[in-house]
Amino acid sequence: MNLFRRLSFDFSYLSKPPWDSGISPPELMEFIRNHAPGRALDLGCGTATNVITLAQAGWQVTGVDFSWRAVRKGYQKLRKTRIEAQLLVDDVTKLREIHGSYELILDIGCYHSLPVDIRPAYRTNIDRLLAPQGFHLLYAFLPSSPGSLPGITQDDLEALNQSRQMVNRRDSPDRQGRASTWLCYQKDTPGRW
Ligand SMILES: C[S@@+](CC[C@H](N)C(=O)[O-])C[C@H]1O[C@@H](n2cnc3c(N)ncnc32)[C@H](O)[C@@H]1O
Repeated sequence: MNLFRRLSFDFSYLSKPPWDSGISPPELMEFIRNHAPGRALDLGCGTATNVITLAQAGWQVTGVDFSWRAVRKGYQKLRKTRIEAQLLVDDVTKLREIHGSYELILDIGCYHSLPVDIRPAYRTNIDRLLAPQGFHLLYAFLPSSPGSLPGITQDDLEALNQSRQMVNRRDSPDRQGRASTWLCYQKDTPGRW
């Protein structure tokens, strides 16, 4: 199942998939304006658009994606922009090479596509890697969206809330009208983003 998903994402990067706009969303820009830089981990980083945005704002960034084609395109963009950041081909439910703690873990559109049975492994990684008072900023489709993606479910919201505090939630349709949400969690201490 995961192999099929990986191959299918990898295939999509043969051309330009619809999400690969090259533009960071305003919600991330707002987060960057309101928080001092630190270490950031971008899960499902695609071709590194948001890795580059964060690095340009002074963050020390690692991006992870299981599509080697996306990571290769990401490295090409890093070279062109002369930005320093680390990109790794890995599965967000594994991350055995990723250590230390991160003030920001970003996920734009990865978690909501994971099969429900492997989501706990992702959440365990967030618990392990998020710094005290660090933020998990997550963009996901809601399950009411048409299409095959399971989206982020009520069970997910409850599980994510268990060891982190939700400090912000903004629901709004995306450009195609799909119901989606921006969620911001903080470890240990609630705050504002
Ligand atoms: C919708 S795209 C978003 C890419 C990027 N965040 C962006 O905003 O441009 C989702 C990304 O998650 C990656 N992905 C999905 N499942 C993954 C997994 N289990 N491990 C690592 N990456 C994964 C896909 O390869 C894809 O690049």
